[in-house]
Amino acid sequence: MSTTQTGVNSPLFADVIRGRRSVRHYDKSVRLSHEQITELLKEATLAPSSSNIQPWRFLVIEKEELKEKLQPIAFNQSQVTEAAAVIVVLGDTEGYKRADQIYGEAAERGYMTEETAKSFAERTVSMYGSLPKEVLHKIIHTDGGIVSQQLMLVARAHGYDTVPMGGYDAAQLKAAFNISDRYIPIMLIALGKAAKPGHPTTRLPIEDITFFNEMPADK
Ligand SMILES: Cc1cc2nc3c(=O)[nH]c(=O)nc-3n(C[C@H](O)[C@H](O)[C@H](O)COP(=O)(O)O)c2cc1C
Repeated sequence: MSTTQTGVNSPLFADVIRGRRSVRHYDKSVRLSHEQITELLKEATLAPSSSNIQPWRFLVIEKEELKEKLQPIAFNQSQVTEAAAVIVVLGDTEGYKRADQIYGEAAERGYMTEETAKSFAERTVSMYGSLPKEVLHKIIHTDGGIVSQQLMLVARAHGYDTVPMGGYDAAQLKAAFNISDRYIPIMLIALGKAAKPGHPTTRLPIEDITFFNEMPADK
């Protein structure tokens, strides 16, 4: 733990990144309030995004009957019903249409002039609105992955555990939870307090996966 300039106790960043593990068994008696989840999401959404469009959206599934409905869609993974909540991270394909709001607020706060905000917003809407679908989706997936990782680290920093899940049927998820085609499911994130620690995992050596300045000719 360290005390920040604001006097808030926070764990060391190294402990957060080393302490995060995919947790698949949760203490079912631990629930998070909407205020707590909102606080985690506030910190998670400080993540960067392409043109600061923040195309991520979150469907928080916390009611028991809804987690039970989700479980078979997520291939019966036990964490879906054990965790306090499952957060469906979505990408909004129309998220760029909020450019006015995003840059307008930046202007109000004095981060840029009204004129710059207006021109950024116009350019953003026109540029993102004319991108081929695959390119737009790739950008949204990238932003969605970044905010997901930030959410998992924020949760750990607050003493909670998570597991990201790509193991689910996206079409069934969309149908069961009234998610229109405007939204792309990015991943599910189970959130709660571990009942059993996540098992340790290994990582590839950096020298096997990193190339300084140029790619090797033989790989
Ligand atoms: C995009 C993505 C999808 C994943 N899907 C699942 C999943 O469906 N179920 C699961 O139990 N773990 C899932 N995992 C967790 C990985 O298995 C885990 O991150 C990896 O084994 C490394 O372990 P660690 O997270 O504890 O470091 C997923 C991870 C990622 C990044």
